[in-house]
Amino acid sequence: MFKKLKQRWHVNALNLVLILFTFAIGGSLCGMAGRKLMAFTGIDQGFWWVFIYIILVCLLWPFCVLMISIPFGQYSFFIAYLKKIQARMSGKRNKIIRVAIFASGAGSNAQKIIEQMYLSAKKGEEVFRVDLIVSNKPDAGVLSIAAKNNIDTLLIDKERFFRGDGYVAELKKAGIQFIILAGFLWKVPVSLIRAFPNKIVNIHPALLPKYGGKGMYGDKVHAAIIAAGEKESGITIHYVDELYDHGNIIFQATCSVSENDTPETLAQKIHLLEHKHFPEVIEDLLKMQNSR
Ligand code: GRF
Repeated sequence: MFKKLKQRWHVNALNLVLILFTFAIGGSLCGMAGRKLMAFTGIDQGFWWVFIYIILVCLLWPFCVLMISIPFGQYSFFIAYLKKIQARMSGKRNKIIRVAIFASGAGSNAQKIIEQMYLSAKKGEEVFRVDLIVSNKPDAGVLSIAAKNNIDTLLIDKERFFRGDGYVAELKKAGIQFIILAGFLWKVPVSLIRAFPNKIVNIHPALLPKYGGKGMYGDKVHAAIIAAGEKESGITIHYVDELYDHGNIIFQATCSVSENDTPETLAQKIHLLEHKHFPEVIEDLLKMQNSR
């Protein structure tokens, strides 16, 4: 149960304890203050006492937990929490789309997407939640990012991914509704694409349709761009279809390539672009899907 709460609220163990204390102390304080205020009304126990007490407590409770959250350092959590309750009560609450990130490497893009999720959650405007990180490499940096953020992980096996069921059952069981490929090096099998039609996006470190396709990943892309004397490179965020780096393009951003650039320096420029745009594009896309 505690693990689920940590995931749902995106908090670590210490903050979870502080939040639960805030709920407990704020709730008791609210109950006490409510009873004291009821004493002034002169109403005896009975239907009206219970009725007015409930209304009073509903009004007092947010105030009490917010006051208690300050010394516990949980004010921003409770502000977002109350905003969420308010949105839910007014029927304006977004459906939260449950996302899996597939990654084979360091996971800096996954990290940025997770940060975006926290940022929106803090504002009470959570659009998506990263519920699962999927990787084909047991030592991928992205798995440590998942652990730090209490996100479940799934390590996949090549044979089963390509010739088996593409792990569709596991993804569906985890409630995944949308898949983000962020530095995932395997081609996505047809079984997975059919199970998530128009619900899988990828980021490619070049301006597709140029410099894409099989074998075009990481520094190989940047080296090819420099060797061809290109003056411009960039990033492409696109839907995933049955061909490598081929689906409909959602977004592109560019950067210049100078004569002095090496694959490493170009990779840095590209990463900056990715970190700036990928999380926002994902959020906008999911907002649009939500409003349909
Ligand atoms: C990114 O450059 C992305 O475009 C490519 O793989 C890289 C992943 O980097 N598909 P990171 O693991 O997110 O740092």
